[in-house]
Amino acid sequence: MCGIIGYSGHRPAVPVIIEGLRRLEYRGYDSAGVAFVQNRELSIIRAPGKLRELEKKLECVNVSIATSGMGHTRWATHGLPNETNAHPHRDGDQRIAVVHNGIIENYLELRERLGAKGHTFVTQTDTETIPHLIAEGLKEQGDLFHALGWALAQLEGAYAVVVVSAEEPGVVYGARKSSPLVMGTGTGENFIASDIPAFLPYTRDVVFLEDGELVRIDANSWQVFDAATLAPVKKTVQHISWDVQAAQKGGFKHFMLKEIFEQPRVVADCLAGRVDRCSSAVRLPELDGMAIPERLHIVACGTSFHAGLWGKLLLETWAQVPVSVEIASEFRYRSPLVGGRDAVLAISQSGETADTLAGLRLMKERGVPVIGLCNVVGSSIAREADRVVYTQAGPEISVASTKAMCSQLTALAVLALHWGEARGVLGAETRARAVAELCSLPDLLDGALPAMRERAAELAREYSEAASFLYLGRGHCYPLALEGALKLKEISYIHAEGYAAGEMKHGPIALIDPRFPTFALALDDELLPKVVSNLQEVQARHGRILALTNEGARVTADDVWNIPRAWGPLAAFPALPALQLFAYEMADYLGKDVDQPRNLAKSVTVE
Ligand code: G6P
Repeated sequence: MCGIIGYSGHRPAVPVIIEGLRRLEYRGYDSAGVAFVQNRELSIIRAPGKLRELEKKLECVNVSIATSGMGHTRWATHGLPNETNAHPHRDGDQRIAVVHNGIIENYLELRERLGAKGHTFVTQTDTETIPHLIAEGLKEQGDLFHALGWALAQLEGAYAVVVVSAEEPGVVYGARKSSPLVMGTGTGENFIASDIPAFLPYTRDVVFLEDGELVRIDANSWQVFDAATLAPVKKTVQHISWDVQAAQKGGFKHFMLKEIFEQPRVVADCLAGRVDRCSSAVRLPELDGMAIPERLHIVACGTSFHAGLWGKLLLETWAQVPVSVEIASEFRYRSPLVGGRDAVLAISQSGETADTLAGLRLMKERGVPVIGLCNVVGSSIAREADRVVYTQAGPEISVASTKAMCSQLTALAVLALHWGEARGVLGAETRARAVAELCSLPDLLDGALPAMRERAAELAREYSEAASFLYLGRGHCYPLALEGALKLKEISYIHAEGYAAGEMKHGPIALIDPRFPTFALALDDELLPKVVSNLQEVQARHGRILALTNEGARVTADDVWNIPRAWGPLAAFPALPALQLFAYEMADYLGKDVDQPRNLAKSVTVE
C-alpha cells in the first residue's frame, strides 16, 4: 500500500532511491515518482505505471548531483493512477515535496481551509494537502522543522510521510501515524523507508519508528522527535539478521516461486528453538507466564485468515481451547463477546494490515490480552500486541502470500502443542509423534517440491481455458480449499471459489457443467469417503475433476495429482505448495504479472 524511501548520504541519491523502490514495489505499483534537490531547486519526476516507466523518464534527466531525495510507488486510494496523482506532491511555490502512504481523512476540510488562503490544488489526492499545509506552516512557524510539527498536528487519518525541501538541501524528514516507517542508519548515509528491504544492501542497522514520531536525517546524523511536542526521543538501533539475498530472487523467475521453494527452510526456521526432536519438548518462551485462554479469538485477513481457520482445528484438538476465527474487517465493527479470560490472536504476515491492527486495538482497549503472530519484526501489530510470536519466514516480497502461510501453520501447530501440554490434555504419545512429524517436514517438502512443480505446470496447461474453478475440501482441507481458490484468483485472474465439500450441494452444484472444473482436495484421511461422495455428485453432472490426493487412495477423477503423505493434520504442509504451484504455473502460463498482480497490494494499511 504505497512504498516510500528517503535517502541522504554520499552516493548519487536517485539510483539508490530507484533501487529501494524496486524492493518496495510489492507495496504498490500503479505509478511512481522521485524528488530531489539540485542547485537549491526542487525537482520532481513521476510516471504512471510500473517503476520501469519512471526509469525510462529518468534516463533523459541529469540527476547525478543530488545526494539526497525520496521516492514513492503508489497504490491509488484517491484519484486515478495517472501522472498528476502520482507522488511526490508539492506546494504551490514548488519548495516542499511530500510522499505519503495512508489516507488523510480530513483532507477535504483542509483543502477548503487552505483554498480560502489562496492555495490551489492540481490533483485529486488527499496527499497534496500536506505540502500546502507545511508551506502554510512555514509562514507561521519560520522553519521547516516547526512547520512540519504544526502541519502533522492537523492531519487526521493514517500516514507515513517523507518530506524534502529546497529550503534544507541534504535533509530528509519522515513521520508516521498508523502506517509503517523505519529508519536505516549507515556510515555517512541514512534512510527512511516503509520497509527494511528498501535499504538492506546498505545497512542492517534499523531504528523502528513509533506512531507520533518525527525523524530528521542528513548524511551524517539522525534524530527522532515526538511530533506533538518536538522534544527529542531516545531510540535504540537494532541490528537485523536478514541479508540482501533473502530479499532478492536468487535465480528464480519470480519471487513467488522462490518463496514457495523456501518453505522447507521456513518450517525448519519456525521450529528452531521451539521444538526438540530428541526430547519432544515444545517451548514458546514468548508466552511464558501468560495464562492459557479460556477461549481464543483469531482475527486476521486474507491468507492469514485461512491459516487461522486451519489453526482452529489443531488448537481445539490438541489444546482443547475453543477457538473462533474471524475476518478482521468484520470483527472490528461489531461488539464481540469476549470474556475476561479470553485472548486474541492477531495473525498477520506484514503486521501492518489496518483491519487486523484495528481488531487488536479494540481488544486492548477492553483489556483482553493480545498475541501477535507476525512475520515482520518490529511491525505495528508485533509492537502493539502484548506478546508476539514471530513466524521467522524472512521477507516475503511476492504479493501473493505463500511461505508466510506455511510458517503460520507451523507456528500454530507449535502453539497447539504448547498449550495442549501446559493444560495436560495432550497425550505424550501424540506430542512425540507430532514433534517428530513436524521435524520431518522440511526434508519431505524439499524432496517433493521439484516434481510437484512439474505436475503443476502440466495441469495448469491442461486447465488453462477454464473461466471458473470450484475448490472443495473437508476438515483441515477446507481452509486449504479457500486458500487454493484465493491464490488462483489473485494471480491468474481466473474466478475461483473455495467451498466446504459437504456444502457444495447447497448451491454451487448448480454451476457444475463440463466447462466448470472442480479442484478437489481428496487427501487420504478419515474424511476421504465423504469427499469421494461429493465428487460423485460432481461427476454425475459431467463436471471435470482434478483431485489432489495420495498414492493408493481410492479416488476417481479426470486428473489425479498424487502428493506425498504426511501424518494427520500435517498433511496440509505438502498440499499447500501444490495449491500455490498450480496457481503460480497457471498465472505464468497465462502471462500474468505473478509477483505484482493487478489491483492488489502486499500490505493493506487502509481499511
Ligand atoms: C493482502 C495481501 C494478502 C494477505 C492479506 C493479509 O490482501 O495481498 O496476501 O494475505 O493482505 O495480510 P497480512 O500481512 O495481515 O497477513
